[in-house]
Formats: sequence, C-alpha cells, structure tokens
Amino acid sequence: MNLILMGLPGAGKGTQAEKINRKYNIPHISTGDMFRLAIKEGTDLGMKAKEYMDQGDLVPDEVTIGIVKERLSKADCVNGFLLDGFPRTIAQAEALQQLLTDLNRSIDYVLHVDVPEEKLVERLTGRRICPTCGTTYHVVYNPPKQEGVCDNDGSKLIQRDDDQPETVKKRLSVNIEQTQPLLDFYQDKGYLLKVDGDRDIEVVFQDIQTILEK
Ligand code: AP5
Ligand code: ZN
Repeated sequence: MNLILMGLPGAGKGTQAEKINRKYNIPHISTGDMFRLAIKEGTDLGMKAKEYMDQGDLVPDEVTIGIVKERLSKADCVNGFLLDGFPRTIAQAEALQQLLTDLNRSIDYVLHVDVPEEKLVERLTGRRICPTCGTTYHVVYNPPKQEGVCDNDGSKLIQRDDDQPETVKKRLSVNIEQTQPLLDFYQDKGYLLKVDGDRDIEVVFQDIQTILEK
C-alpha cells in the first residue's frame, strides 16, 4: 500500500503514522524525522535543514525531494510506503508523481487528517517527545503514565525546538498557505480522502483502518 498522510502541523500525522506502521508494517517515512536525525548527527543536510526549521519555514524543495527520492528507492519500500509530511508543495507533489511513474508505482490513498486550525496551537505546545525512542505524548490528550517520563524506557521527555509558541505560529501560517493547492491537486487525481482528526486518537485510527481495509 502506498499512502500519503497530509495535515497541518499538529493534526496527528506522526501519531497515526506510527499506528499504521505497527499494524500494517508499512515503512513510515517522515521528512521532519529525517531532518531531525540529520541535525542530531550534525551532517551537512542537518545544518542546512536547521536554518529553516528553527524559523518555522519549509526546507527548500530540491533538498527535500532529494532525500525522499533516496529513501523511496530503498528495498524496504518495495511493498509500500507511508509518507508523512511530504509532499508539502506542488513542486514536491509533481516530483513525487514523476518518481513514482519512473518506479512504475502509484499512490493508493492520500489521507487528509483534518483538524480545525484553532486546536493546533494547543496540540503543538503541549506535545512532548521521548529523545530515546521517539514516542510522542501530549500533556493533556496523550499523557505518559508518569508525568514527564517515557512509558517505554523511562527517559525524560523533551519539547521539540520548533514547538515554542512563536515558531508554532509561523509553521501554521506557512503550511496553511501551501495546503489548499495540494489538496486540490490530489482531489483532482481522485486520491484524496478526508479523515476527521478532531476526535480521540483511537477513534481517528479506527476510521483510517476502515479506509485501508476496504
Ligand atoms: P514535521 O516534523 O513534519 O512537522 P509538522 O508537519 O509541523 O507536523 P508535526 O510533526 O508537528 O505534527 P503531526 O501532524 O505529526 O502531529 P503529532 O502526531 O505529533 O516537520 C518539521 C519541519 O521540517 C517543518 O516545519 C519544515 O521546516 C521541515 N519539513 C518537513 N517536511 C518538509 C517538506 N516536505 N518540505 C519542506 N520542509 C519540510 O501530534 C501533535 C500533538 O497532538 C502530539 O502531542 C499528539 O500526542 C497530539 N495528538 C495527536 N492526535 C491527537 C488527537 N486525535 N487528539 C488529541 N491530541 C492528539
Ligand atoms: Zn522512550
């Protein structure tokens, strides 16, 4: 199955992608995670991406398209992939179409996780992540058993650098501007399905499973 998860920052793409990955064993490809890993490892890619991410801006298309091309050509993607946070611009969507045509593949579904904009600031500023295993929590909506500590490995939870209120505002405005043309692009191709993301995490996942198992 070849899937794309779309949605504004904080809509729950990463949360649902992890669930889909666990249940259906489809590789979860998150451009945001790839950039964060590169930053942690101090590579040239990381240094370049950090300049943009710290400002809440998009990383330039040529850089982002390059890492996705490389990732999708790996062996574990042969039976399917789950793209989270890519494409985010029309140029990226067109590059992906070309790449899939070259690989003789196509998209099955583009799932748009839809959440009203006013809910997103709270989701992002309340997010906490585990620096060891990457699990995502929320202080109110998805809290760990013990406050501030990962359930899996006991690590102290941290906040993402770009989840500070000022950067959150910028990320939202940048992404809102890019989203509608992309939704139109996939609607026209007949791939787009909307999922109401403004419900409990498990209820949203139920809906996604219903779509994927049709
Ligand atoms: P990226 O890491 O992709 O961030 P994002 O798109 O801003 O999305 P988030 O990860 O913030 O949100 P999410 O939808 O995954 O929500 P989550 O599940 O965590 O990108 C970061 C940066 O990298 C970008 O700003 C850009 O600079 C760069 N970048 C990445 N891709 C790029 C591209 N293609 N082109 C150019 N630049 C790119 O959930 C959020 C919170 O809400 C969590 O705390 C969670 O527990 C909680 N939550 C989740 N679901 C629910 C629910 N149903 N109810 C209540 N709470 C919920
Ligand atoms: Zn952990």
